[in-house]
Amino acid sequence: MPLEIALPDDHERFSLQDYIECLEEEGYDLSDHDDLIASAKHLKKLGNNKDFLIDRVFAELKKSLQFQETNIYAPEVLLLHTTNSYFIRANIWKPVTKVELQVPGYRYDVCHDHNFDILTIGYLGPGYRSRAYTYDSAACEGMLGETVNLTSEGVFTLTEGKVALYRAKRDVHIQLPPERLSVSINLIPKGDARNQAQLQFDESSGRICRYLNFSGAEAAVRLAGLLESRECLEGLVRIATQHPSAKMRALALVSQLSIAPESADTIWADMNTAQPLLVRHIVEAEVAQYGACMRTISSG
Ligand SMILES: [Fe+2]
Repeated sequence: MPLEIALPDDHERFSLQDYIECLEEEGYDLSDHDDLIASAKHLKKLGNNKDFLIDRVFAELKKSLQFQETNIYAPEVLLLHTTNSYFIRANIWKPVTKVELQVPGYRYDVCHDHNFDILTIGYLGPGYRSRAYTYDSAACEGMLGETVNLTSEGVFTLTEGKVALYRAKRDVHIQLPPERLSVSINLIPKGDARNQAQLQFDESSGRICRYLNFSGAEAAVRLAGLLESRECLEGLVRIATQHPSAKMRALALVSQLSIAPESADTIWADMNTAQPLLVRHIVEAEVAQYGACMRTISSG
């Protein structure tokens, strides 16, 4: 269950600019949960302003070619402000349509964690509901197929004006559709947990069934292997030894195996001694899935 933050009644309205100035001038360390929670009173004031979001979006629409030009998210996400250390976004939660209801096996969302904290406020509408769980990410490796202990925390509803903190790599949820269109505003610090994979779980068993985030950097590393670009080898070796993300290190090793099969024995040996279990597991899963380097696996 996200941490619901009880705040005193407050009807003051902030503009987006007021909110950003408070965040930056009051010197919050947004990577610290206590500071993030201390900043929640300002998000509440922004949430009281029912004009800022539509004003902002329509200002962008008027410049139509620049509409959300830096937004890499789905159409349900509006990016409002971004810096090196955090970003602010609005999420739009649609109710389920009659057509969607008729699709066999239709799913609104999957059961997942986040690899970033989210300080959120219900801004408009009745709010999404979610079945909420927690888990201890330090007690698991994060390997596909691994089962974690999901502790059920009940159903959480982000009603209008409610403020809550979703903790990276701790809170797990599956969103349920709101009764009517709803909007939440999120403050998202760019914390260290971004280097861990975001996980999808099988809700009933707690089994880790998918890695959810897929970055441009990951695509570039995969592409280097696919194109067998020998000029990328040096960079891939550096990524495989130094990158903070286990998944990036693993993908860099997989690409090295594709580009330089003659060095496979050394790559596997180095990996087995220098890399944690999670990296080895991801490499083996990638190789098994995409069929590369099978000779090396069977001989090594
Ligand atoms: Fe989520």
